Amino acid sequence: MKWQNHLAGNENWAGEISNYEEKSKVAQRVSRFVKDGDVIGVGSGSTSFLAVKAIAERVRQEELDVLMIPTSHEALLNCSTLGLKTTSLAAKRPDWAFDGADEVDSNKRLIKGRGGAMFAEKLVMASAPKTYILVDESKFVSRLGEKFAVPMEVDPRAVHLVETKLNNLQTVEVQLRMAKSKDGPVVTEAGNLILDARFQEITAGMEKEFSAIPGVIETGLFIGYSVEILTI
Ligand code: 5RP
Repeated sequence: MKWQNHLAGNENWAGEISNYEEKSKVAQRVSRFVKDGDVIGVGSGSTSFLAVKAIAERVRQEELDVLMIPTSHEALLNCSTLGLKTTSLAAKRPDWAFDGADEVDSNKRLIKGRGGAMFAEKLVMASAPKTYILVDESKFVSRLGEKFAVPMEVDPRAVHLVETKLNNLQTVEVQLRMAKSKDGPVVTEAGNLILDARFQEITAGMEKEFSAIPGVIETGLFIGYSVEILTI
């Protein structure tokens, strides 16, 4: 995402958000959980942005003192543009966190990472005692992987190695994520590339199997985290 395009600094942001009404309602719900003194992990994506907006409003009106831990440059800019103080995982542990998701199944297993921020999102989720996953109805699936591929952040030198290893794990398709302009690959904030992988079936052990492949920094498969699914 270009710096000048971050949602809070973009006049046309409402038009860029799908399922805006539903996402706004869930964002309002999570904003009510904020207490004075909280340190809060902030996910990336449009639902998280709406939650940041709702929280900023409460903080302003009630003069609450909260600290946010953003999971991307985009989330950092949204927080700071809306007047929320930020810190980092290097300095603080979150009391709780919130984030969006691309898919959620009935066992609270998630696919995330359409925005490519899954590495920091997983660090924050693993550091927080509880993370609220803010979703609209379109995010629920009966089978994980039904709509979205599993994104993997990969060191650029390892792309071919990881692709070969994934093909040994019944991968249906592996694609290097390209920029919308198609003039090059998407590069993450840490300078890595993203492989989007589709599978016949996603099983519980896969998150660990993927992480064991040399060159895989992190994946968008989130299984077994302390999450509460929040919807309207
Ligand atoms: C970013 C993410 C987002 O949480 C996920 O893509 C959902 O986005 P949105 O709230 O815009 O629908 O994982 O890496």
